[in-house]
Amino acid sequence: MKIFIDSADTEEVKKYLSAGLCDGVTTNPTICLKCGVAGGMEGIKRRTIQIAKLIEPRPMSVEVTSENPEEILQQARDYAKLAENIAVKITITDREGKSFLPVIQKLVSEGVRVNVTAMTTFNQAILAAKAIKSGMEANPEKAKTPHFISIFAGRISEEQGVERAFNVLKELRNWLDFHQYKGIEIIVGSVRTPENVEYWSRTGAHILTIPPEVIAKSLLGARTKETVAQFINDAKKSMEELA
Ligand code: E4P
Repeated sequence: MKIFIDSADTEEVKKYLSAGLCDGVTTNPTICLKCGVAGGMEGIKRRTIQIAKLIEPRPMSVEVTSENPEEILQQARDYAKLAENIAVKITITDREGKSFLPVIQKLVSEGVRVNVTAMTTFNQAILAAKAIKSGMEANPEKAKTPHFISIFAGRISEEQGVERAFNVLKELRNWLDFHQYKGIEIIVGSVRTPENVEYWSRTGAHILTIPPEVIAKSLLGARTKETVAQFINDAKKSMEELA
């Protein structure tokens, strides 16, 4: 299982890269805003290039900022030119539920790597997988893989509980394997707690994208600090005795 860092904070990315915990990075407009990415579209592009360089060849996901299909196509093509390891995030529908799958299929057929995002159901995810597969088949020599399908497990949990999210992820992995889908990986998004990490790591999803603060919390064990203190104190005592 891979871990992506769900952040646009370059220092956090560096930190987890050097710990061997960063297999990729995901951002979205909300994350960019939270991480102080300024300067509009140019600012987003600058930060994207910075992070993409830092983590290459690992994938860097950046999200389009429009709900207009023509604008999405243009932005996605522009983003894809920023670096070799860019994956363009496109929500499965617009805010009214209008499908972006034709746009996604087209971009994949042009050789743009996509991350279909903001999905909260099994059905959305298999439709996204089918659109991606169709795009890859339309132009196999251009296909840049893996493409990603992002399930927002935390948001599913908020409505329907963590177990429902678990089952959606598990069944989705089974479905991809059963139908022999290649070059498409599941990302678990909206990971909110260390308990989410523990639970959803067992679904067979290929990737968990985790905010830095949740990774930091996941590093802590209930009695680890106390145990380390005991070892260090006793080591000191035995050194003193030896001396
Ligand atoms: C990841 O790719 C997503 O953008 C992210 O995990 C979304 O999480 P949220 O539900 O906290 O917005």
